[in-house]
Amino acid sequence: MRKIKDLRPLKFENNKLYVINQLKLPQTFEWVELSDYTDVADAIKRMVIRGAPLIGIIGAYGFAIGVRQIVERKEPLEKSKEILKTLKETRPTAVNLFWALERMWNRFERLIQEGKDPNEIVDLLFKEAGRIEIEDYHANKSIGGYGQVLLPENANVLTHCNTGALATSGWGTALGVIRSAYQDGKNITVYVDETRPYLQGSRLTAWELVYEGIPHFLITDNQAGFLMKKGLIDAVIVGADRITANGDVANKIGTYTLSVLAKEHGIPFYVAAPTSTFDLETESGEKIPIEERSQDEVKKCGDCIVAPEETKALNYSFDITPASNITAIITEKGIISHIDTDHIMKFLKYRGV
Ligand code: MRU
Repeated sequence: MRKIKDLRPLKFENNKLYVINQLKLPQTFEWVELSDYTDVADAIKRMVIRGAPLIGIIGAYGFAIGVRQIVERKEPLEKSKEILKTLKETRPTAVNLFWALERMWNRFERLIQEGKDPNEIVDLLFKEAGRIEIEDYHANKSIGGYGQVLLPENANVLTHCNTGALATSGWGTALGVIRSAYQDGKNITVYVDETRPYLQGSRLTAWELVYEGIPHFLITDNQAGFLMKKGLIDAVIVGADRITANGDVANKIGTYTLSVLAKEHGIPFYVAAPTSTFDLETESGEKIPIEERSQDEVKKCGDCIVAPEETKALNYSFDITPASNITAIITEKGIISHIDTDHIMKFLKYRGV
């Protein structure tokens, strides 16, 4: 077994929440403290932290931080609704945020019903956020275990965006599968899409792969088809921000294009995600709200202007990959290889989700 370093993107120490500032990577490794719930909301919006599972975890801590602020100021607990609203309005696509906030809110209401003292409520809310964090970590390790079996001994794997330790509580989903395969001794080479415009691939995934010593090549997004045609790619593996009841997947813009290319070239296309990413109340992908971000993210690369001022840019941050383009969905409960509403519902039900 190869050694893997255990990178974590957050720490909760002495009742303080710290996160790695992902805007500064790869040049600078910096921890920032988020001491106010509005700081948490701002960090999610500005993508100081990002990645569906991590957004959920940090949102959960943010709720606990907000309730602590209310209790410290001796304000009515009613005000917690505002905290919930502010956190919910940060980013619309990744369902893990809403899943985690709903879990925190349900816990909060139960604690009030049980007549707990406000300080105890705060304490128990931080414990709940901690549980969400640790459960996510175990889920990722399990996804890694199930998923790595799908990769051959010598595998050239293409991935998109960042789905690693930096996008989760640690280890990662799609990148977690790659980590697990590498740890198990497989010969993995990763082809990392740079992931325009936010460059999660080049700034974050490549950085994580360097950190672990996993062989990789950085590619511009538009090289994927050419590499597939040349027979250089054995599998594509990506994460997910939301999976609807029928198995459609919202993920970083460009994922859909990759799925079409993979289908055309007969290459397996895997999605790796914890079950908290399923949104069974939404039937299919076209109902998922897709975040549109500032034009500036497209018209600039860092501080460098790369388009005329007069040019208007579109910046959809996610796209939808239809279930029919996906070979299998890898979860912490196992692998779903018949992807339709009926199989997904049965799979989740029989595994107690
Ligand atoms: O905009 P981001 O960086 O939050 O988008 C991240 C992705 O699209 C990831 O692929 C997804 O959240 C899965 S992360 C395990």
